Amino acid sequence: MRSNQNYLNKNLDRNVKDLLVKSLKFFSGKHPKHAVDMGCGLGIESAYLAALPNWSVLAIDSDAELLALAEKKTPANERVTFLKSSFETMTSLPACDLLYSYHSLHFIDREHYERLWNLILTSIKPGGVIVISVFGPEDSMVTKKHAIGISEQELRNKLINFKIEHFEKIRKKFQETTNYFEVIGIKKE
Ligand SMILES: C[S@@+](CC[C@H](N)C(=O)[O-])C[C@H]1O[C@@H](n2cnc3c(N)ncnc32)[C@H](O)[C@@H]1O
Repeated sequence: MRSNQNYLNKNLDRNVKDLLVKSLKFFSGKHPKHAVDMGCGLGIESAYLAALPNWSVLAIDSDAELLALAEKKTPANERVTFLKSSFETMTSLPACDLLYSYHSLHFIDREHYERLWNLILTSIKPGGVIVISVFGPEDSMVTKKHAIGISEQELRNKLINFKIEHFEKIRKKFQETTNYFEVIGIKKE
């Protein structure tokens, strides 16, 4: 990401994303559940999950400044682990019940993009849930070549082994174009 200040201005005081809260209705039972938050940023969603009974979270981000803020904001809790790592250098992910990634994956270098998608999709246990937002092809970050865009059809193809519970296409045009997808899917057994 080019500037943390822009991200911090928009996110420092925000509430947890509705998309994550919505996805939690697909979980039941008191057994331990593990989430991975790819590109956790300030860790707002990681902190929310780690405060829920039975959940543990691995929160991953490459940005030391954001991770330090995330650790500061997160109540001391052995159920959240922060990992400083770039997506480009990741070769494995733990098996998880929930893979959450909001507005992050599209910042990976293109040469690692397909490999990371494969890692993500295979890390989710059967019956587990993916909650993701990624830029579409029209977003100005994509057209300016600062991020990778994915078309609706490409995204649906990637999630072929998932039952799609929520698929929203966002497209807004002010001075710049905002275009992204928000998806919740359950991995088929
Ligand atoms: C727009 S922020 C979103 C953060 C968080 N998911 C949220 O919704 O508040 C994108 C995040 O992805 C992280 N990121 C970008 N490129 C990355 C990469 N190649 N490897 C790891 N993290 C990356 C950034 O440091 C940043 O925290």
